[in-house]
Amino acid sequence: MGQTLTEKILDDHLVEGELETGEEIGIEIDQVLTQDTTGTLVWLQFEALGLDEVQTELAAQYCDHQTYQFDFKNTDDHRFLRSAAGTFGAYYSRPGNGICHNVHKENFAAPGKTLLGSDSHTPTPGGLGQLAIGSGGLDVAVAMGGGAYYIEMPEVVNVRLEGELPEWATAKDVILELLRRLSVKGGVGKVLEYTGPGVESLTVPERTTITNMGTELGATSSIFPTDEKTKDWLSRVSREDEYVELSPDEDAEYDDQITVDLSELEPLIAEPSMPDNVVPVREVAGTDVEQVMIGSCTNGAYEDILPAAKMVKGQTVDKKTEMIVAPGSKQASEMLAREGWTAEMMAAGVNFSEATCGACIGIGHVPASDSVSLRTFNRNFEGRSGIEDDNVYLCSPEVATAAAIEGEIVDPRDLDDVEAPGLEMGDKYGEGMGKDDPDIIAPDEAVDDGLVKGPNIGDVPLKDELDAELEGPALLKMEDNITTDHIIPATQDILMYRSNIPKLSEFTLSRVDEDFAQRALDSDGGFLVAGENYGQGSSREHAALCPMYLGVEGVLAQSFARIHRANLFNFGLIPLEIDEEDYENIEQGDDIEIVDDVAEAVRSGQEEFTVRVNDDWELTAELNASERERQILADGGKLSHTKKKAEDG
Ligand code: F3S
Repeated sequence: MGQTLTEKILDDHLVEGELETGEEIGIEIDQVLTQDTTGTLVWLQFEALGLDEVQTELAAQYCDHQTYQFDFKNTDDHRFLRSAAGTFGAYYSRPGNGICHNVHKENFAAPGKTLLGSDSHTPTPGGLGQLAIGSGGLDVAVAMGGGAYYIEMPEVVNVRLEGELPEWATAKDVILELLRRLSVKGGVGKVLEYTGPGVESLTVPERTTITNMGTELGATSSIFPTDEKTKDWLSRVSREDEYVELSPDEDAEYDDQITVDLSELEPLIAEPSMPDNVVPVREVAGTDVEQVMIGSCTNGAYEDILPAAKMVKGQTVDKKTEMIVAPGSKQASEMLAREGWTAEMMAAGVNFSEATCGACIGIGHVPASDSVSLRTFNRNFEGRSGIEDDNVYLCSPEVATAAAIEGEIVDPRDLDDVEAPGLEMGDKYGEGMGKDDPDIIAPDEAVDDGLVKGPNIGDVPLKDELDAELEGPALLKMEDNITTDHIIPATQDILMYRSNIPKLSEFTLSRVDEDFAQRALDSDGGFLVAGENYGQGSSREHAALCPMYLGVEGVLAQSFARIHRANLFNFGLIPLEIDEEDYENIEQGDDIEIVDDVAEAVRSGQEEFTVRVNDDWELTAELNASERERQILADGGKLSHTKKKAEDG
């Protein structure tokens, strides 16, 4: 039987296990990336592990999420990251140089290589044939030290693309259509592998929009084969020598197949406040819009902004609407400026921001209360824009620009005076990016040696070995689809404590219950209870580390998002799955006791655990864990486990 493209790349990198769906495999990682919200912990953990030099082919540290320097804390973090990159041997991209996925794509992403990143949208370069996976920072630190990355062998699903996109339908509509069909849980445990005759009609930037937002489906990764379009794009970023031809075998067998006829797509939009609330734009046409934002790692590339520029040239942004462009990379900004597009957009009333994640996580450009913001981003979780009860819609740059011109949501097919921008391969897109980027400092150009830690940068807390007895109250009961933004919000006032865990922990789950942190500290142990898909969203390991710091011992949930589940193991919190009926019956405040010698049961491979509630009734909870995950959990988390292994020789 032939292999899928995913299997071929995994096979090439396999160091442990077999490529059987659901089995744990260990793979070698070629490249890693990290960014500024997760990076400080990555390097502190790299240091705590006693590692002294990056062992992967390449490691890159980006400063993108929080680039504004409100006070010393963030600037200290960036200085620490620069010193860590220089000390340990990673590339360092300065704040303002762009979003990790955009800059990595332009400079380093390579077909056939594996990439591990401490950011959930790491799968972005799957659009050029790289197998890229998001993970917690500790997994990145270990991989960077030369360790394997472990993952359950995902199902490989074939997304077969047929036909070609009609006018005004875009790559964003392809992934919104998949979200409409499959929901935010539809990709969990899967790699989405794109094939079919429709692939060749899509450019690399269009493909990376699709692979970027596979994360919103919960997918482990998404990948396209390589072809002439890949070769052409690599040559435009001066890296044609990195082209490798990659495709699945003709007789490859997939676990499932989904067909999307591109020619049947129309402009789509995700309504507030989940990326899968997708409807045709025409159904919400006429909704007033106060803010339009173009940018993010999904649609912040030069090739995403160019259509917007072509549309607004000679037009004006409606008087009651603000339109802001936040380019994904500084090089994209530079190209737009060089070619005169920045001036055209400014003349039309468009405002420009520096190249940053910023607004995507509520740092800057927070919408007005009770207003609608249309964004080309990938997430519209409630409150993520920086204000509770926000109304954020997700759409393509074309739909966003049409709304900016009209002051309301409009199906761009109904525009009278604006022509479809239609990008051709002949456009000079991508040309020259990634070459001689002055804002990237190579390891051998490092400014200084030795770690520089400001007063806000603390140590990584460690947890003791798992106890034999685990009991405590249900500290908080939550619903389905709780995101890492709920657990540890990434807004500026909170994010500035990302390297100061005691302080950051005070904000744990504060958006769900503002008394939670104090209650958890006071109770000396306890559990979180949640519905489906607990921990979806970012790779932020603070969402496991802070509850651990507060004394939380485990999470009882109907299901877990992949990266967060791995982070719970990494920080020694037991993730137990319960069924819907038991979830319904547990009340916040109930006494929870796991009726076993928990440490022994975890180590010995026990899968079912009896949980006694209020000394009154019992339920059965499941621990789905590999042997490796069990030992990590029992040792009190991956940091303690890895140190212990090193000490044991
Ligand atoms: Fe940044 Fe938002 Fe992407 S925070 S990495 S632009 S999802």
